[in-house]
Amino acid sequence: MLNPLDLNGRTVLVTGASSGIGREVAILLSQLNARVVLTGRNEQRLEETRASLTGEGHRAIVFDLSQTDDIPKWIQTLVSETGPLYGIVHAAGKQSAMPIRFANEKRVDDLVRTNLYSAIMLARGFAQKGCHTAEGGSVVFVSSVMAFTGKPAISVYGATKGALTAFVKSLAVELAPERVRVNCLAPGFVQTEMLDQLRDLLTEEQMQALEAAHPLGFGTPRDVAHAAAFLLADTGRWITGSTLVLDGGYSAQ
Ligand SMILES: NC(=O)c1ccc[n+]([C@@H]2O[C@H](COP(=O)([O-])OP(=O)(O)OC[C@H]3O[C@@H](n4cnc5c(N)ncnc54)[C@H](OP(=O)(O)O)[C@@H]3O)[C@@H](O)[C@H]2O)c1
Repeated sequence: MLNPLDLNGRTVLVTGASSGIGREVAILLSQLNARVVLTGRNEQRLEETRASLTGEGHRAIVFDLSQTDDIPKWIQTLVSETGPLYGIVHAAGKQSAMPIRFANEKRVDDLVRTNLYSAIMLARGFAQKGCHTAEGGSVVFVSSVMAFTGKPAISVYGATKGALTAFVKSLAVELAPERVRVNCLAPGFVQTEMLDQLRDLLTEEQMQALEAAHPLGFGTPRDVAHAAAFLLADTGRWITGSTLVLDGGYSAQ
């Protein structure tokens, strides 16, 4: 039966696979027949994800993406074991409430390193000779609706996510000759541990107001996984340099 989302014979690296969105992306991609390489820092949680995958041949590799200079070499080593990658879904990321009066170089650097530098170096790694398949490939970065809208105390986080949406534009043009596509997802608030951290900072009323600001309610990791699969697979073959907003109508108002 025709399934344009089928990823059979393709290997995809999923970052942030130990939790939330990345974990669900990995599960869905395995259900679409991809071979998945999971990465994160927490080995036990990565193994939990691996145990939830469909099919054979998946791997879990512990790696701290804040070691940004090491990423291209790490991808080369990985590819020497798995063969060239078809794609990357970069879901690893960090959110930290930071009123601007509390911003300092260390805190800002921590967010920029985890959310932006990691993406840049993953793209560099993927672009290396032999690291992506001869047919080309597809890279999906998880940005955020905070790239386009505002909330107090998340300006620095929003800046890292906005930078990703700018990053994919020129990168898409640069890598198009090799048929490597690069895109972003910009989710609204999604029910993961990241949202639970926010829950700890807000009152019950503020949380209800935040959910009400999403006409379709909060998203689920599966909502984001569907969009990631769409951009990754042949359904997205004419899409590059784009950011797909999926936010239950949050930014439509
Ligand atoms: N949840 C939302 O409302 C929402 C909305 C818009 C965008 N996003 C974005 O979606 C992505 C996934 O978020 P989530 O909600 O799924 O969060 P989450 O459940 O907190 O998961 C974050 C993931 O990032 C990984 N990670 C963090 N720092 C890392 C590092 N230095 N090296 C390697 N892995 C690292 C964590 O793995 P380890 O702990 O194992 O290292 C974990 O798997 C993030 O980029 C986030 O900014 C989330």
